[in-house]
Amino acid sequence: MKHFINIKDIPASDLRKIIEDAKKRKIKRKGFNKTDVDQDIPLKGKLLIQMFEKPSSRTRLSFYLAIKQLGGETLTIKANELHLGKGGESLADTAKILSTYGDGFMLRTDSDKKIEQFSKYLKIPIINGLSPSSHPTQILSDIFTVEEIKKKPISKLQISWIGDSNNVLNSLIAASVKFSFNLNIGCPKYYEPKKFVLNWVKKNKKKINIFNEAKKAVKNADVIFSDKVISLNDKVNKQKKIKDFKKFQINKKLMSFAKKDVTFLHCLPRGSEVSDEVFLGKNSKVWLQALNRAHVQKSILLYCFEKLR
Ligand code: CP
Ligand code: NVA
Repeated sequence: MKHFINIKDIPASDLRKIIEDAKKRKIKRKGFNKTDVDQDIPLKGKLLIQMFEKPSSRTRLSFYLAIKQLGGETLTIKANELHLGKGGESLADTAKILSTYGDGFMLRTDSDKKIEQFSKYLKIPIINGLSPSSHPTQILSDIFTVEEIKKKPISKLQISWIGDSNNVLNSLIAASVKFSFNLNIGCPKYYEPKKFVLNWVKKNKKKINIFNEAKKAVKNADVIFSDKVISLNDKVNKQKKIKDFKKFQINKKLMSFAKKDVTFLHCLPRGSEVSDEVFLGKNSKVWLQALNRAHVQKSILLYCFEKLR
């Protein structure tokens, strides 16, 4: 059994294996209905328990489809429906129960410590479905999407991020080390990535480029990533932060500084960080990006269950 908690802690060769498996499986499913099961039924009889401490549309639905297509089932619970959520049962006992009834556990939480603690007590794999510090399933899926669209390894592409230094960016930074791609980040000075993230990059002998001017960050970009300026766990002055990011909106003018065939990606949900024109325009591949979550979740599940071919 293997946990899937942070991209930075997973060997690059395993991450690549997950992507290659997802590519093969997606091709093999051509013409299948959404809940048709893959021919090899690799997770027959397995139960994935999903718990959400905060909202989710894509992660919830893509894991539902993923386990179904692998021949297993999912049960989705809200934290406040468990004794744990009400303070009536310890995390260790809850982990024991989850391991008794389920085969895998996917958790979206406001606490990185909680994921770490669960990983200690669970006898089944845990998948991080978004935490304050990372969103690994999103970014691994996005690497898959980039390579599908551009038809080349991401290491041959110039990747840009315009936006807040949040959980999604942390995972993208970790991926830039694991997959060796060039990453330019554009954000206001006060919102640059945290020291511990930059130190980890340095320790891994990688360089990322940070610009406080959006057009410099997107120069020659093959792909521009973005995310909401205000994340679910943001406890900031929202109006001020949105104002601080005003010059970093991804609009047609900003896109013109990137390559002509630049791809725009956004994990969703969106806010004012991107104009409708770009979001709904021809360079935007956000719907394919969302769809691919289901394909990549499947290979992440297989990795966790040690069933990756
Ligand atoms: N991108 C993403 O994780 O979406 P949800 O919050 O809807 O799961
Ligand atoms: N950074 C966002 C991602 C949502 C999928 C958040 O944490 O709310």
